[in-house]
Amino acid sequence: METIGEGDDVLLYLDKKRTYLVRVEAGKQFHTHKGYVELGDLIGKPYGSPLVSSLAVRFHALKPLVRDRILKTDRRTQILYEKDIGYLMLQLGVGSGNRVVEAGTGSGALTIALADAVRPDGMVYSYEINPSFQNVASGNVERAGLMQYVELKEGDVTTGIDEEDVDAVVLDMATPWKVVDHAHAALTGGGVFVSFSPTIEQVMKTVSAIKGLPFVDVETVELILRKITVAENKTRPQTQMLGHSGYITTARKVLGLTNLAL
Ligand SMILES: C[S@@+](CC[C@H](N)C(=O)[O-])C[C@H]1O[C@@H](n2cnc3c(N)ncnc32)[C@H](O)[C@@H]1O
Repeated sequence: METIGEGDDVLLYLDKKRTYLVRVEAGKQFHTHKGYVELGDLIGKPYGSPLVSSLAVRFHALKPLVRDRILKTDRRTQILYEKDIGYLMLQLGVGSGNRVVEAGTGSGALTIALADAVRPDGMVYSYEINPSFQNVASGNVERAGLMQYVELKEGDVTTGIDEEDVDAVVLDMATPWKVVDHAHAALTGGGVFVSFSPTIEQVMKTVSAIKGLPFVDVETVELILRKITVAENKTRPQTQMLGHSGYITTARKVLGLTNLAL
């Protein structure tokens, strides 16, 4: 069984709404409204172990998943959430050893998922126009221990993509249609282009740009996630839900001309 070591991150779990991503260090206390815990007590214990606070409240030390790291990112921008990231990752088909271009980096939430997928031999090249957002993303990626798989690039991706022969290009930015031709040039044959956009207008302009280039398998989807309350005689969808996040458009580069039947 994997045990917790000095310097490891754990997700301290009290309940669904109260979780804390903390670094374990000998002699370090972590204070909550339920009392403080001695993080050093976790050293040598397996993940999942309980940790009892000074007020006798029981926490559990979980091994942080990529989704925990995404949800705990320090944020200066809207971020992508697991509902969209999960689907988007499958569409992109990225895996170990792949080279992926991303824009904009934003707070680096998607960057973390991409970096985790391409390690240990791949690389994420992530473009961001706003240096202060890039700074925050850098902290988030660093905290996740994934910086060696990410090159953060400051600049306007609508002016071009430096990389060639990449496996995938993924966009979450205001003007994706201005990047479609650069993405096509940067992709390897069969490489995947994915764009996330909150509005239909962005999607229409992006798909129009895609249709002017040798891409096939073009598709736009919206994902709706409903959480279910499970309790005796009350099992049903929750009354409150996230109504809209965005649309995901996918296309695959082909070599030579297409008949644009797509
Ligand atoms: C919604 S945020 C991306 C959030 C990111 N996917 C995440 O999960 O944290 C959009 C980002 O795109 C950046 N951006 C907008 N236009 C850009 C451009 N032309 N080149 C590079 N970045 C751009 C913005 O500054 C912003 O940080």
